[in-house]
Amino acid sequence: MTRKLAAGNWKMNGVKASLAEAKTLADMFPTPTIDILLCPPATLVTAMADVLTGTKVSVGGQDCHMNTSGAHTGDVSAQMLVDAGADYVILGHSERRADHGETDAIVAAKTVAALEAGLTAIVCVGETLAQREAGETLDVIRAQLAGSLPDGIDLSRLVVAYEPVWAIGTGKVPTLEQIGEVHDDMRATLTARFGGGADTVPLLYGGSVKPSNAAEIFATSNVDGALVGGASLKAADFSGIVSAL
Ligand code: G3H
Repeated sequence: MTRKLAAGNWKMNGVKASLAEAKTLADMFPTPTIDILLCPPATLVTAMADVLTGTKVSVGGQDCHMNTSGAHTGDVSAQMLVDAGADYVILGHSERRADHGETDAIVAAKTVAALEAGLTAIVCVGETLAQREAGETLDVIRAQLAGSLPDGIDLSRLVVAYEPVWAIGTGKVPTLEQIGEVHDDMRATLTARFGGGADTVPLLYGGSVKPSNAAEIFATSNVDGALVGGASLKAADFSGIVSAL
């Protein structure tokens, strides 16, 4: 049985006072039947983990370095996220790939580091609008999966998120057929490479998920949850998405 996961990515949003939203969300789901995760900015990971102690909502980072320590100004290691109370880390988000030049090889190295530290890695892939319009979507996703996932990965601590770049923060969402096509292809690609264990890797959709469209997206083939940006900032919005899963 594939785990269901509703993951919120606060991106570079949120201040200490925002942690009240995390606590409100956790109080709304004292005994959830799915996994719920919030990934605040690095500065809030420790405080959020404290606020959520004893609740069923997990905490994650939005990135980590591939090395365990050293002269890497501004970076945090996977072990530092663990120390701060994180259980997950998002890797290879398209904003990291665009803003920081992260390649598939870098994402793969970070994934190794994350798993070695004991984190669950949420590895992101997704095509640009130009790539979709050129009919390259499945090839792009397959190449990103091939390059971003290391060999011999512990599948029990892997989550893959499909986030079309053109759907992030735009209000534009692919058709359900387009989402299903990519998710079915990702499942087949993972199974071909890693075997039957890939059946249990949660495949998240991300890109303009809202309470109003969550249920139909979650009913789509091989969609096991969502990676949510803007609508994860307020408990009132994110709870509607969690409830739909
Ligand atoms: O990580 C989350 C995604 O980039 C989606 O963001 O829900 O604001 O479109 P969004």
